[in-house]
Amino acid sequence: MNRRIAPSILSADFARLGEEVRNVIAAGADVIHFDVMDNHYVPNLTVGPMVCDAVRPHALTAGGARVPIDVHLMVKPVDRIIPDFAKAGADIISFHPEASDHLDRTLGLIRECGCRPGLVFNPGTPLSHLDYVMDKVDLILIMSVNPGFGGQKFIPSALKKLREARARISESGRDIWLEVDGGVKTDNIAEIARAGADTFVAGSAIFGHADYAATIRAMRHELAGAGA
Ligand code: DX5
Ligand code: ZN
Repeated sequence: MNRRIAPSILSADFARLGEEVRNVIAAGADVIHFDVMDNHYVPNLTVGPMVCDAVRPHALTAGGARVPIDVHLMVKPVDRIIPDFAKAGADIISFHPEASDHLDRTLGLIRECGCRPGLVFNPGTPLSHLDYVMDKVDLILIMSVNPGFGGQKFIPSALKKLREARARISESGRDIWLEVDGGVKTDNIAEIARAGADTFVAGSAIFGHADYAATIRAMRHELAGAGA
């Protein structure tokens, strides 16, 4: 199984965002996780399409290959802003079912805009929202904290939800990424991987220590030993 580390720039230095993105990619990041908050759906306010557009040219490997920008929308409503993020260079766009009145339409809109659609599940949100749209999602994001802030503690019930989501993905036969977001650290990433996650968002764990490469290396070492 391909396992990806997705640093969340929420914990980066926003005054030096381009440099932070380049540094974390040089340190081994596979995906750039881009948290969008609107002070309405969640009680915090971050960045929008203009900042995504500004980050895009920095999200490249040393060889010049695009590193995917994974836009996690914590905004309500969602549809109006989706084409703007697609134009700003987003690769994946995920949203919370509570933030859209028409789940199927929003997933279709993201696809029409040329991006990969994802659905995000808060700790209290059931996976049943997937029942009729498994053929339309490319990413399932399990929140292991309540959204809004970095640096919170991992909520253990996310492990059960990851196992259930992994079973749904296997049953679908589709190549759907299973991402986890919130409180992911070097000391719990192996257990989270064993529950079925393949894409690991980490904000404070990576940007909170000066040596990004050392943290990412330690995470990969844990993943290699996870045995799942
Ligand atoms: C929370 C965000 C997360 C956040 C994770 O609403 O969606 O992506 O940055 O931060 P850590 O890894 O510090 O829990
Ligand atoms: Zn996020």
